[in-house]
Amino acid sequence: MRFKDKVVIITGGGSGMGLAATRLFAGEGAIVAVNDVKEATAAAAVAEVTAAGGRAIAIPGDVSKREVAESSVARVVKEFGRVDILLNVAGIATIQPAETYDAWDRITGVDLDGPFYWSQAAAAQSMLPNGSGNIVNVSSLAGHVAYPGDVGYIAAKAGVLGLTRSLAIEWARKGIRVNCVSPGFTDTQIIRDMEAIDPNRFAERKKRIPMARAAQPEEMAKAMAFLASDDASYITGVILNVDGGQLALSSGWSPA
Ligand SMILES: NC(=O)c1ccc[n+]([C@@H]2O[C@H](COP(=O)([O-])OP(=O)(O)OC[C@H]3O[C@@H](n4cnc5c(N)ncnc54)[C@H](O)[C@@H]3O)[C@@H](O)[C@H]2O)c1
Repeated sequence: MRFKDKVVIITGGGSGMGLAATRLFAGEGAIVAVNDVKEATAAAAVAEVTAAGGRAIAIPGDVSKREVAESSVARVVKEFGRVDILLNVAGIATIQPAETYDAWDRITGVDLDGPFYWSQAAAAQSMLPNGSGNIVNVSSLAGHVAYPGDVGYIAAKAGVLGLTRSLAIEWARKGIRVNCVSPGFTDTQIIRDMEAIDPNRFAERKKRIPMARAAQPEEMAKAMAFLASDDASYITGVILNVDGGQLALSSGWSPA
């Protein structure tokens, strides 16, 4: 029960690793505010938590809109008094060549503007006045190294690494820790959608994961929980790679 009575906001909390985090945090005693752009998905996550005896509310909305971040955080603060933990998990990806890429605003809006707007709102409305808070962002292996076909995602996820470090040092003396989980291949909808576009490319890609398997979303949720917990009380500004050894293999060689 590491998160007993903690008030936790999870963006993209309705599916994939966000849903795994919703289950984990609620299971360890947190009150979870589940954001998702898909209203029904957020509502289903809340219903599941409530049925299991946990506490959760849905705060649906598009993370890329600043006013949604501000009003959602305001609602949580009004209802529960504060925000202890913010997990910026929502994200989208695409596959398009750079020369005709038309998804830039949408992808960078969700994947980079979103985490900034929500961090700013949570800090301003609760964490800074309370002198206490905890933020975990979700970047990607793609924030460290590139692959062809999603220039906006790769730029945005690299931006999340800088956002994490920047907020961590600005708020280190104000009681707020800011860290980042950087997932490798994880078995969720975002990957299934991309796989459907080009199955062969993904099959080949998976063979090059040193641990020879994709991650499960629960493995990402556990990493987020560690960083958000008191077990990580002296950790801030850290990028935790949870990638089955993939970043260690950026040498061009095949795994052994
Ligand atoms: N799955 C992977 O292999 C992988 C690898 C590296 C990083 N990531 C990152 O992990 C995070 C979670 O993705 P996932 O793998 O669980 O995928 P997912 O598609 O299962 O979950 C993403 C969730 O975000 C929600 N969402 C999308 N746009 C939104 C918006 N504008 N506002 C609010 N919610 C929105 C979706 O509805 C969905 O519930 C993303 O940031 C993604 O970029 C995933």
